[in-house]
Amino acid sequence: MRSRRPLFWVVLLSVIATAIGIVVALLIDWFPSQASTAATDIDTLYDVLLIVSVPIFVLVMAVAIYSVWAFRVRPGDTRDGAPIHGNTKLEIIWVTIPFIIVAVLAGYGWVVLDDIEAKKADEMVVEVTGQQFAWSFVYPELEGLQTNELVLPVDRPVHFKINTEDVIHDFWVPDFRLKSDAVPGITTTVRVTPSRIGAYPVVCAELCGIGHSTMRQTVRVVPAADFDSWVERQRASRVDGGVDDAGGDPIAAGRQLFNDTGCNACHVLADAGANGAAGPSLDDLAAVAERLGRPEGLTPAEYVENSIVDPNAIVVEGYQPDIMPTDYGDRLTPAQLQTLVDYLLEVGGGGNGQ
Ligand code: CUA
Repeated sequence: MRSRRPLFWVVLLSVIATAIGIVVALLIDWFPSQASTAATDIDTLYDVLLIVSVPIFVLVMAVAIYSVWAFRVRPGDTRDGAPIHGNTKLEIIWVTIPFIIVAVLAGYGWVVLDDIEAKKADEMVVEVTGQQFAWSFVYPELEGLQTNELVLPVDRPVHFKINTEDVIHDFWVPDFRLKSDAVPGITTTVRVTPSRIGAYPVVCAELCGIGHSTMRQTVRVVPAADFDSWVERQRASRVDGGVDDAGGDPIAAGRQLFNDTGCNACHVLADAGANGAAGPSLDDLAAVAERLGRPEGLTPAEYVENSIVDPNAIVVEGYQPDIMPTDYGDRLTPAQLQTLVDYLLEVGGGGNGQ
C-alpha cells in the first residue's frame, strides 16, 4: 500500500468486509424447517446476533491485522518497543460499548424466551422420559397413554415435562427449536406449539453412553382428527394387538413396532433399515436363538421374548449386560410383544426355512 493514509484503506476494507460478511451470514441456511411457533422468533434472534457479530469480528481482525502490518519490526531494528502506560479513555470506551451491546442482546433474548415459555391456554402435557438409548412418552390427560412414538396435534400448545431413568440426556427437536436436558432427580419443562404438519427428528443431544448417537426417534405432527384416531388406535392396541396399525400385515406391524419402540437405535436389522451398533445384529436372530436358547431349553420364540423382557439373562458374546433397558416387558403389551417376537423371527432368518 503506497497510500499515505493507510487508515482510510483499513476502514474502507473493513466496511466492505462487514457488508459481505453480513450478506453471507444471512444467506446461509442455518436451520431446518420452522415447525413450531417459536421458530420464527428464534431464527430472527439468531439473525440479529449474526448481524451484530460480523462488524465486531471484522473490527477485531482489522485492528489485529493492521497492527501486525503497521508495527512489524523493520530489518536491523533491535530496539525495544516504547513503554506505554495505557489509555484510560480508550479503556472506558471498550468496556462500555461491549457492555451495552451484550446487555441489549441479553434483554432481547430474555423477552423472546419469556414469550416462548409463557403458559398457553389449552396446553397438552406430554411426559418425556429419556433412557439409554430411547425416548418414551406419556400423555397424562389421555388416561396415561404411554407410547414409544411421539405424535402431536398441529397448532395445539404442548408442555413437555422431561425426566430420565438413568444418566443425563438432552431432548432436542431441531425443527421446533426446542432443547432441554433430562436430568436425574428433577423434572425440566419446555413448551412448544407445533405449527407445521410433518415428521421431524427427535435427537438426544447429550453424550449418554455407547448408544448416544443412535438415540434418535421421530415426532409426527398431524391434524387434530388424525391425532384423535391415532390415540384410539393406541388404546385399541393396548387391548388386542399391535397388528391393526398396519392394516393387518404382521410384518409391517412388527417393523413399525420395532422402529417406534426404538429397537432400531441399537440393533442392526436389514428389514427395518436399522443399523444401530450398541446391541447385537438381529439379521441372524433365528440362528442365535438356536445356538444360545436351545441349550437353556428355550424355543426360538421363548428365547426372543426372554431377550426382550429380561435382556441380561442371556447376553450375546461380545456384548455387555446392562446396556438394554429392562422394562420392555412393562412398556409393551403382551400382544405387542407377540407381534415383535413373530416379526423378529420371521425377518431374522427363521421364516424362510433357515
Ligand atoms: Cu441419550 Cu445421548
